[in-house]
Amino acid sequence: MRFRVKAPASSANLGPGFDALGLALDLWNELEIDTNGIPGTVTVEGADGTLLADKQNYSLNAMQELSAAYGKRLPGFSMTIRANVPVARGLGSSAAALACGLVAANALAGLGLRDVELFLQAWQMEGHGDNVGAAFFGGAVLAVTGMSHAILLSNGDELGLMAVTFIPEATSATWAARAALPSNVPLPDAAFNVGVASGLTWGLATGNREAIAAGMRDRLHEPYRARLFPHLTPMTDAARQAGAVGASLSGAGPTILTLVEPENVDAVCQALHEVAVEHDVKGEVKPLKPTSSGVSIEHF
Ligand code: HSE
Repeated sequence: MRFRVKAPASSANLGPGFDALGLALDLWNELEIDTNGIPGTVTVEGADGTLLADKQNYSLNAMQELSAAYGKRLPGFSMTIRANVPVARGLGSSAAALACGLVAANALAGLGLRDVELFLQAWQMEGHGDNVGAAFFGGAVLAVTGMSHAILLSNGDELGLMAVTFIPEATSATWAARAALPSNVPLPDAAFNVGVASGLTWGLATGNREAIAAGMRDRLHEPYRARLFPHLTPMTDAARQAGAVGASLSGAGPTILTLVEPENVDAVCQALHEVAVEHDVKGEVKPLKPTSSGVSIEHF
């Protein structure tokens, strides 16, 4: 058996949708598996490949965990990982790796699970459904605790917006960015987030720009994470001034996500670049397209 699985990068939260909203982006992690290859051989390609070695190999860990949970053994195989999604930047690299691993294990062990069942496994493994929802189904998704599937708000293309990102060179671990959050938040902040997240959800489902603009604001996690990422507030402010519809921290950071009308992409790129220079943050300004595609498998 020989096949390739690929899953997209994603941006979680989109501001106020902490652990709930995700948007799939056109940048892919890939796994190529060959049961006729030398068993146990793992080749990692990609700029951040070394960060995926050993214990960080989410795909392999997920494959073993899933097959063990169903009492199955995986056959021997060789594996090539193409890690195109920057690791530990808030772009869902682990969710993409998980999605690839689960879909691969499902095929290798003949489990016959549907994507939605694999998604729920991934949600359990990751602890939140935002990135894994986008990695499985593509588009803009809402993962509501207690529901048995993710809600597809938009296929991503139909939004007609570009995702202009600033991806710092420096990495940040999700656990550290979660540890920076308080265990309780003031009620007015929680109430603010309920309103804006509801508006954003509706804005993403309908494409309404005013709702997206008003909705991409947060008081639950960004104010605390701004202490870890001093570029966050200057970049989101500058992006909005340059014409971005909305701007937020991407997932647990340090990447910045902005949603931008195609005609304003150059101005927002320039604004992000200027703040990076001014604040001496090394990194790359990268326009990405939202994608409607989630994880997929191609047999050779
Ligand atoms: N919703 C998560 C967070 C995304 O903000 O911590 C990180 O995987």
